[in-house]
Amino acid sequence: MSRMIDMHSHVAWGIDDGMPNKMDAMEAISQAQQDGIVAICSTPHFIPGQLDQSVYDEIVSRQKELKEMSSLPIYLGGEVMMNSEFIQYLDDGLYPCINGTKYMLVEYNVLKDIHRISYHEDTLYECSVRGYKPVIAHIERYFHHGLDWDIIENWQNEGYVLQINRTSLMGMSGSQVQDNAWELLEKGVGHLICTDTHRSSGRRVECLSDAYQEVEERLGKENADLLFYSNPQAILEGRPVEDLTVVQKKKKKRFGFFRR
Ligand SMILES: [Fe+2]
Repeated sequence: MSRMIDMHSHVAWGIDDGMPNKMDAMEAISQAQQDGIVAICSTPHFIPGQLDQSVYDEIVSRQKELKEMSSLPIYLGGEVMMNSEFIQYLDDGLYPCINGTKYMLVEYNVLKDIHRISYHEDTLYECSVRGYKPVIAHIERYFHHGLDWDIIENWQNEGYVLQINRTSLMGMSGSQVQDNAWELLEKGVGHLICTDTHRSSGRRVECLSDAYQEVEERLGKENADLLFYSNPQAILEGRPVEDLTVVQKKKKKRFGFFRR
């Protein structure tokens, strides 16, 4: 079984819209273990405008409680919402980074198409100039009418880390999101694939092996290992991530030989 690390999970209970209780959290961890996941980064929602020191402390203490009782290694992080108040509170020290590195998992409101979020570039820029390394959560979910490559290429040029959800690849978030996710990977875009677990049953659960197999089939084992293990490990250690390579190889074959 391949080793995988899940870097985006709402497995800590009772602090956001993730796990409702401790039993579900424990069940999710056991599912992760059976699936081949060797470590989980706990990334509860941090919502600018709804945060103060006491809310922050409550979330972190629950994460520590989870870490102590878990049979799997648990790392601490968060998923910070880049809303209209994000920049205003950016210097308050209430947005967590992943495992004490400079990597910060950030998201936009997925209900809005990215073109309707006027400040979407500013939030990332303000993170970068402060030395944070944004990891943009589930990038495939912000393009409701197909990918906008101007935006994606800009993210690549800025060196942002780009995360894709397992559920998107498996078609659990609709066909447009699924098409977006595979188009990204097939064009060599994406650094890590995660569960974005919210429950111990249903769609967003602690499972990566099905997506790993699909990715391995389409992009090869080397890239699957990069997306599910090596890049997550690099992020946990604060090292740079690597880009996918399979697509370039495919292109060479297509033009260099008579494969089609
Ligand atoms: Fe999430």
